[in-house]
Amino acid sequence: MNSNDYEKIASWFAQYVAPYLEMEQEIRDTVQMKVDHTHRVVAEMNLLIQSLELPENDRYTSLSVALLHDVGRFEQFVKYRTLNDRQSESHAQISIDELKSHRVLDHLTVEEIEIIFKAIDAHSRKTIPENLDQRSVLFSKLIRDADKLDIWKVLIEADQGTTTALNAIVFSDLPDNEEYNPKALKAISSGEMFDLAEIRSRNDFRLLAMAWVFDLNFSASFHLVLERGYIDMLAERLPEHENIKKAVLTVNNYLARHKNRQDLQD
Ligand SMILES: [Fe+2]
Repeated sequence: MNSNDYEKIASWFAQYVAPYLEMEQEIRDTVQMKVDHTHRVVAEMNLLIQSLELPENDRYTSLSVALLHDVGRFEQFVKYRTLNDRQSESHAQISIDELKSHRVLDHLTVEEIEIIFKAIDAHSRKTIPENLDQRSVLFSKLIRDADKLDIWKVLIEADQGTTTALNAIVFSDLPDNEEYNPKALKAISSGEMFDLAEIRSRNDFRLLAMAWVFDLNFSASFHLVLERGYIDMLAERLPEHENIKKAVLTVNNYLARHKNRQDLQD
């Protein structure tokens, strides 16, 4: 695929979103938030593909995945008034269904369409499905990293109270106290992610967000997390317990160890 193919998709996206931005305030605000997220994920994707020096075709495929990965969020919110997949349905699947019914990718090859759908499907799963072909795995890894790089920013801003509207959505009713789930620390010490279902407090959310480093795939992503100080900003708001300090150290050591890894070789 080339820049023309991508431009077609980008202009479809702008047209598709427009009517949602005319709807009632609650929908408009949520849609705008997700549109902004989408454009930032495209920017993050650009950083990753520059660092990897991907060929033209792969660059535009990556950017398309980034632009389309959350396109189902708008229908999800209109239909269910929630962005919680467990209280509605998989937003990744809604994205794929919308792209199919609007025939957005008809100008691409069958292989490109398949890869885009598989990467969209993989972006919101806990891990990348095991039976995926190598190319779909590459684009799945790219969107998972690009998405996380922006979600960290959104979560941290919400945590710091600089975006009050988001605060309600991201942390909804989570208590901001000294509590934390020991399972989160255990997950971090074994280099694993922590299940969203186990979250009981804001501290759990902060620890969950830290554990996402274990799912990063590209050297550029590790560098960006370090440069932006995401982990330190999350750590600042956690209680001063020895166990927590140890967990933060584990995460920082992991980042330091992986930031100069060789990409595209595993
Ligand atoms: Fe998503």
